[in-house]
Amino acid sequence: MEAVGLLVHSAGQLCVVPAHDGEPQRGASLGELAIVEDGALAVRDGRIVDVGPSAELRGRYSPMQEVDAGGRCVIPGFVDPHTHIPWYGDRANEFEQRLAGATYMEIMAAGGGIMSTVRQTRQAEPAELVADNLPRLARMLRNGTTSAEAKTGYGLDTAAELKQLDAIRSLDAQQPVELIATFMPAHAVPSEYDGKANEYVDRVVEEMLPAGADWMRQRDVTLFCDVFCEDGAFDLAQSRRILERAAALGYRLKIHADEFAALGGTALAVELGAVSADHLVQTPEADIAALGRGRTVAVALPGTPFGLTRWDAPQAYTPARRILAAGGALALATDCNPGTSWCESMQMVIALACRMLGLTQAQALAAATVNAAFAIGRGHEVGSLEVGKQADLLVLDTDDYRQVGYQFGGNLVKTVVKKGRVVIQ
Ligand code: NIG
Ligand code: FE
Repeated sequence: MEAVGLLVHSAGQLCVVPAHDGEPQRGASLGELAIVEDGALAVRDGRIVDVGPSAELRGRYSPMQEVDAGGRCVIPGFVDPHTHIPWYGDRANEFEQRLAGATYMEIMAAGGGIMSTVRQTRQAEPAELVADNLPRLARMLRNGTTSAEAKTGYGLDTAAELKQLDAIRSLDAQQPVELIATFMPAHAVPSEYDGKANEYVDRVVEEMLPAGADWMRQRDVTLFCDVFCEDGAFDLAQSRRILERAAALGYRLKIHADEFAALGGTALAVELGAVSADHLVQTPEADIAALGRGRTVAVALPGTPFGLTRWDAPQAYTPARRILAAGGALALATDCNPGTSWCESMQMVIALACRMLGLTQAQALAAATVNAAFAIGRGHEVGSLEVGKQADLLVLDTDDYRQVGYQFGGNLVKTVVKKGRVVIQ
């Protein structure tokens, strides 16, 4: 018998959700779960060393710890590849204004919206910012998220943006959800630069991006850089300038594109080799075709149109089926933020994706795990239950993975294992 740290066994369905030759599940191939019935998985030093039938693995390994799934479903931990954590405060007042008829963009143009959270986040002491976001991450973990992207973008000056980066690093160290950091000084034009967007872009490329690059070199990490390419935020030329400078400084790239207006951000992302392009609601056919040819992962955020819905103002969603028909790689994320989508649950996102994007439960599950990992450059490490990967997994309180997506508003997660350690029981 071989010694291992952990053996998870007796899973009615063990969903491996494999990558395809080290790549995301693209186009028509999205939704492969590779289910092992009565499955088991052995873990050594936090990594998966074997996957197979329970009877075989129980005869092969003597584990220090066992998780008996008792016929339940075991799936990879969810990866949430787009959040705006950390932020400080809330905007319940703006939600009330939206219920009374104001639009998100009107509130933003009047100095609220992102700027309102920027004011609250700038004022928070670093320790307050961390303390305010820790419970949020604890709730996400309970709901099955084991890795997440976290962005700056509520600082919008050099010191406050770096304060957010430090908060992300501290949050990552203090709890089990692994955080992948993104620097986003171009999330909005701050009110100090009203009418002077180009001057702010100068500031971003000349001062802020180099400061973030110093931060990453000192800590030996690679940051993503993201930009909000949108009417009322940064136009296509400004977005290009920012992303090209970021690439030259060693950042990997992301973009917020086509949320309200199609400015060409998705094609720009593919051209620049961005790791992901996110939102993609108004994306034109030519840009969808570009996603099919390129390697950029399309990240759909169905919590955002849902969060922006008013009873008389139905919202458009990402044309996910057209992206898949073009051969694109599709992932799902919460966009967790205080303005448009305060959603901490990937299970809720899967439920929305099944209804509003037209995905099957299997497609949505793969988009929320293996493809989501590729959307943050972590597809080689997390997102699937393949040998060699980090042992990040969930035992669900059901024997059928299809309950995820079918049920909504609750939490089907019973047990969470992160890097081979049981962190929620
Ligand atoms: O992805 N669209 C831009 N940024 C966020 C919203 C941030 C906010 O409103 O605070 C988004 O939806
Ligand atoms: Fe966002």
